[in-house]
Amino acid sequence: MSHTRTQNPSHVPALESLGPVTAEEARLLEKLDLTRLPRHVAVIMDGNGRWAQKRHLPRIAGHRSGTQSARTTIETCARLKIEALTLYAFSVENWRRPKTEIDFLMQLLREYLRKEMPLIQKHAIRMRFLGRMDELPAGVQKDVQEAMEKTAGNKGMVLCIALNYGGRAEIVDALNAILVERNGSGPSSPITEEQLARHLYTEGLPDPDLLIRTSGEMRVSNFLLWQIAYAEIFVTETLWPDFNRARLLEALVEFQKRERRYGGLGEGEPSDEKPARVAGE
Ligand code: FPP
Repeated sequence: MSHTRTQNPSHVPALESLGPVTAEEARLLEKLDLTRLPRHVAVIMDGNGRWAQKRHLPRIAGHRSGTQSARTTIETCARLKIEALTLYAFSVENWRRPKTEIDFLMQLLREYLRKEMPLIQKHAIRMRFLGRMDELPAGVQKDVQEAMEKTAGNKGMVLCIALNYGGRAEIVDALNAILVERNGSGPSSPITEEQLARHLYTEGLPDPDLLIRTSGEMRVSNFLLWQIAYAEIFVTETLWPDFNRARLLEALVEFQKRERRYGGLGEGEPSDEKPARVAGE
């Protein structure tokens, strides 16, 4: 299904808000229906190390270069009015890396939060952090807290940085939070999906409908395990530092080609009987 600018006038403001575009970006934008964008995009930013290795640079040069891709992705999603963007910055497994690399990543994040705050505020982005914050170095915790406070009143896109994040840890944390809440409150009823979702780090956010992973690995790596139940997964060979605006638009175009069925039948698919349950569940 193709929509052009002239067919759908609602495209115009969002297109203009992207500013000057390259010929490749313009071609991709022609294919994109800006009224059917994902509500929540989640990204596994992978391949910084390989990007550096290919250039005979230290791994940290790859991470530094990756911050530019993060900036482009954040700004483009905000301009396209996507509701939420989640970036996987540091997993619970990443503590197994050399101390020098961990220290660099923590420092880079602190620097990033300071440097990018004007951009975050310009787009009225609200920042959230997903993960076990209490296990992070004190300085990082302070900066994280500050970034959340400074942007708490913003009404634009929600930007979640997954930091010291693990999908299994998140589910365990949610169950423990439910236990604490129920403590001493008499006989307990079974835990429901809705109740568990309310205790996840992502509480209040729509589930990601698009999960992007760079650098070609076909894994979900303990990322948003509960929330990606129905997400479309887009894996690109592009290494994270090379993930530019055109590559992001390409992922969005690909998302729109997929038919989302949530376990039901596709539109127009022959069905022998009426669905057992009402749509929208
Ligand atoms: C994976 O590359 C990337 C990370 C460990 C995440 C760090 C991401 C950044 C520094 C981007 C900037 C983002 C923010 C929000 C500051 P890798 O080292 O696993 O690459 P490899 O698989 O090629 O070794």
